Amino acid sequence: MRGASDRAEAQAEITRLRAAIRYHDHCYYVLDHPEISDAEYDGLMRRLQALEAQWPTLIDPDSPTQRVGGAPSPAFLSVTHREPMLSLENAFQDGEVEAFDRRVRERLGLDGLVTYCAEPKLDGLAVSLLYEDGRLVRGATRGDGYTGEDVTANLRTVPSVPLRLNGSGWPRELEVRGEVYMPRAGFDAMNARLRAADERVFANPRNAAAGSLRQLDARVSARRPLRWFAYALGAGASDARLPDTHFDRLACLRDWGLPVCTLNERVHGVTGLLDYYHRMQARRDSLDFEIDGVVYKVDDLDAQRRLGFVSRAPRWALAHKYPAEEATTQIQAVAFQVGRTGAVTPVARLAPVVVGGVTVSNVSLHNFDELQRKDVRIGDTVVIRRAGDVIPEVVRVLTEARPADAVAVTLPTHCPECGAAVVRPEGEVIARCSGQLTCPAQRKEALRHFASRRAMDIEGLGEKLVDQLVEAGRVHDPADLYGLSAEDIASLPRQGEKSAANLVAAIDRSRATTLSRFLYALGVPEVGEATARSLALHFGDLEPLMAADEGALQAVPDVGPVVSAQIAAFFREPHNREVIERLRAAGVHWAPVAAPAPDPAAQASPLRGKRVVLTGTLAGFTREAATAEIQARGGTVSGSVSARTDYVVAGDDPGSKLDKARALGVAVLDEAAFQALLNEG
Ligand code: IVH
Repeated sequence: MRGASDRAEAQAEITRLRAAIRYHDHCYYVLDHPEISDAEYDGLMRRLQALEAQWPTLIDPDSPTQRVGGAPSPAFLSVTHREPMLSLENAFQDGEVEAFDRRVRERLGLDGLVTYCAEPKLDGLAVSLLYEDGRLVRGATRGDGYTGEDVTANLRTVPSVPLRLNGSGWPRELEVRGEVYMPRAGFDAMNARLRAADERVFANPRNAAAGSLRQLDARVSARRPLRWFAYALGAGASDARLPDTHFDRLACLRDWGLPVCTLNERVHGVTGLLDYYHRMQARRDSLDFEIDGVVYKVDDLDAQRRLGFVSRAPRWALAHKYPAEEATTQIQAVAFQVGRTGAVTPVARLAPVVVGGVTVSNVSLHNFDELQRKDVRIGDTVVIRRAGDVIPEVVRVLTEARPADAVAVTLPTHCPECGAAVVRPEGEVIARCSGQLTCPAQRKEALRHFASRRAMDIEGLGEKLVDQLVEAGRVHDPADLYGLSAEDIASLPRQGEKSAANLVAAIDRSRATTLSRFLYALGVPEVGEATARSLALHFGDLEPLMAADEGALQAVPDVGPVVSAQIAAFFREPHNREVIERLRAAGVHWAPVAAPAPDPAAQASPLRGKRVVLTGTLAGFTREAATAEIQARGGTVSGSVSARTDYVVAGDDPGSKLDKARALGVAVLDEAAFQALLNEG
C-alpha cells in the first residue's frame, strides 16, 4: 500500500526535479551556459518521468516531461492578435539608414545622437506568446499580422519556450513576441535524417522552422530542433513598473527566463548602426543560426510612442538587410575542367542568378565524389549559396523539382582537352588527366601559375595570351617564354607591338627572382608559398634541394611524408630537370639565401623556432611584412593550421583558420599581442 506520506515524498521530489530541470533549461537555452552534462540532464528527466509514471495524479501540464506534443488536431484554430503584429520597413543601402535616422531626429526634434537597440534579424517565423500569471497559455503564429494560427501545443514542445516564467515582477498578462528558428546544426542533422529515410528535405532553416512548427501533430514538432528568441513585448505590458527603454525591457524578459539574443546592443547614431551592421555581417557565417539582416529600434519607449506607425510598419524601427546569400537556379550543363596538376573538376553551368549581390553562372562541384554525393543532374533545380567572399557552392538539389528528363553526369574516360586517359587511383577522390604537359589545359594552367604575381610576376601575360601562345605551339613550357621575341608576340591575333614590347621587358625583368618565388612558380604539387619559403630558407640554394631525399626534406618545418614524396618525385622527373636547366640557361637567377644569421636578437625572440599561421587582415602589416618579421626572428609561417602550429595571428575578418585553431586549442594572438611578441626581440 502506498500511503499519504509516500505521495507527499514523491510530490516533494517531483517539485525539486522540475525546478532543477527548469533551472538547467534556463542555463542552457537562455544563458547559453550549461552547468551539467547532457547525461546528467537526461538522468534528472528520467527520474522525473519515472516518478510521474508511478504517481499519474501528480502530473502537471507544465511539467518539463509534458513537452512531447499531444494528439494531432484536425486544423489550427485562428487567433486574433490584440495588437497587430506589424512588419518592418526594409533598407539595403547605407543611404536608406541615414535617411531613417534623419527622419527619426526630425520628428523627435532632436539634435544629438539617437540611441538605438540593434539586434540581429533572425530568419525564422514570428510568433506571439501569451503568459497569464506567469504561465504560458497561448502561442500563435503571425499569420497575416491580424489573425494567426493557434500553435500553443507545438510551441509547448520547443524547449527554450518556458512554460512558466521565472522570478517576479511580470505583468499579470504578458504578451511576448519573438522568432522561432532552427539552428544550422539541427537543420543539417534533421535533413540528413530525412534524407536517410527517403523523405523530403527542407530547402533552408527558415522553411524547416515554419514547416516544423505548423504541424497538426505536435509530436512531430517535438522531434524537430526548434529554438526561439524573444525580441519584443506585445499588448498587456502597459504596466508602469516596467523599464522605459526597449533594451532594458528585453533584459527583464531575460530575467524571467525568456531567451533574448545576446548579440543585441545599444548603439548611438548612424555610425553606431552601420558599425553594428558590418560587425554582424562579419560574424554571420559563424553564428549558429541564420540572420538575414539586423533590426534597429529607437530605444526610448516614449520616443517610440511619439513616432508611431505608418501603414503597417513602425516609424521607430528599420530592418537593414544583407544581400540574399542563397538562391535557386537550374543546372544547364556540367563541364569538366582540367587544372594545372591535371585534376579533372566538374563545373556546373547555371542559369545566371544573383546570390550575395553578384551574378553567378558557374559553380565548381569540386570532384566527382562530391557531384555524386549531392546527386547533381543536368536539368536539376539547385540551391546556390555564396556567403561573404566565399566561392559559390551548390548546397543541395531540390529533388522534388527534378524533371523526368534530368540527365545523370558521368566521369569522362578521356580528357576533354587532350584526349589522354582520365585516371583515378584507388582510394583517391581526384580524377586526373594522364596527359601531363602534353595536355594543353595543364600546360596553360602551369604557365599561368608560373607567370602569376606571387610567382615570377610577369606582368601582361594574361589568360588569353597564354591560350594563344600554347595554341599556336609557340610555348610548351615555362622555359620557352624566355625565348619569345616581341615579333613572335605581335604576330599573334589581337596583339599590338607596344604591348608585345612591354611583355618582353616584363619577361626579362622576371629573370632576377628569389629562390622561394622560383620554387613556388615551378608548381611542385603540394608546395605553396609558405612551403616554398621554408624550403628556400632550409636549403639555401636549388642544388642541395634537388639532391635531397625524402628524409632530408622532412627536416624542413611543415614538410611531412606526403609533401616530401611529391617534392622528391618532381625533381626526379627528367622533363622537370630539363625545364629547370633551360630556365637557368636562359638567365633565371637568384641570390643564394643566406643561412639565418645567428643573431642574438633572433636567439632571444619568443618566436624563434615557432610555427605561425596568419589569418585575416592586420592593420599594421601586409601579409608579406608580417611573414618577414616572423622569419627574421627565426619563426616559420605556414599556410594551414595543424596541431603542430604554435600561434595563429588573427586580424580582421579571420577565416576558417581561426575556428580550426580554436578547435585544436592553438594559441590565438590578435594584432596587439602579435606586435607585443615582435617587440620582445
Ligand atoms: S521587431 C514592430 N526584431 O522580421 C516590430 N523583428 O519584417 C516587430 N524579425 O515579422 C518586429 N528578428 O519575424 C523584430 N530582432 C527582431 C527580429 C524581427 C526577426 C522578423 C519578425 C518580423 C519581421 C519583420
